[in-house]
Amino acid sequence: MRKTIVAGNWKMNGTSESIRDLLAGLTAGAKDSAGVITLVCPPAVYISQVKQWLGSAPISVGAQNVCEQPKGAFTGENSLAMLQDLGCEYVILGHSERRSLFGETDLLVAEKFAAAKEAGIVPVLCVGETLGQREAGQTIEVVGAQVAAVIDRVGINGLSDAVIAYEPVWAIGTGLTATPEQAQEVHAAIRKQLAQNDEVIAEQLSILYGGSMNAGNAAELLAQTDIDGGLIGGASLKADEFLTICAAAADSRK
Ligand code: 13P
Repeated sequence: MRKTIVAGNWKMNGTSESIRDLLAGLTAGAKDSAGVITLVCPPAVYISQVKQWLGSAPISVGAQNVCEQPKGAFTGENSLAMLQDLGCEYVILGHSERRSLFGETDLLVAEKFAAAKEAGIVPVLCVGETLGQREAGQTIEVVGAQVAAVIDRVGINGLSDAVIAYEPVWAIGTGLTATPEQAQEVHAAIRKQLAQNDEVIAEQLSILYGGSMNAGNAAELLAQTDIDGGLIGGASLKADEFLTICAAAADSRK
């Protein structure tokens, strides 16, 4: 059975104080459920502190982005070696906010993906269509091209042990959620695309849904055959809400 992953993308939110409160809530309620990975992705400057505060709690830590270059004159960037140094196990790549606000292209995201794999940090590759693309009937094509760019760069074997997150851009931070059927359709298409290259990798790869997932809608999304977890923004900043989603993820495996 595939791993179920509930990942919190905190984006550019939090202070030492608010993060300490959030982690106190999470560590008090986090449960070690077989097959379920709970992951938090704080802003990079807090990763070290978060690792320390988490202690032995069953919660993994990831970054929200990384530079594809190994080191050098890249002001403001963080390298994979730095993330390794801090004990980061995962890195979110190609989030739609990175693509739309910071000009990250499919090619750059594929370079980052390749570098993360080489460093042994699990890439969480984000893909998703805009509202205009969905209305123009281009969803599968757009998402397929985003996945294909990575397969072209690293080969299908490069996707073994990786994670994909389908995040429709129109559902991010808007309160609009893809219906379970809409999400399932895209997740199944991604898995089919992977299976055309390697059926085993397609079957074992976890595909998360992101976009206004919350305590109220998580269970029905997670019940879909090809939805293996969530990448959660706003609702990951509230311990109770995030823990409810984690509980729904554990239930979805029963
Ligand atoms: P929201 O859950 O706030 O819609 O954000 C989703 C997201 O972008 C996670 O990466």
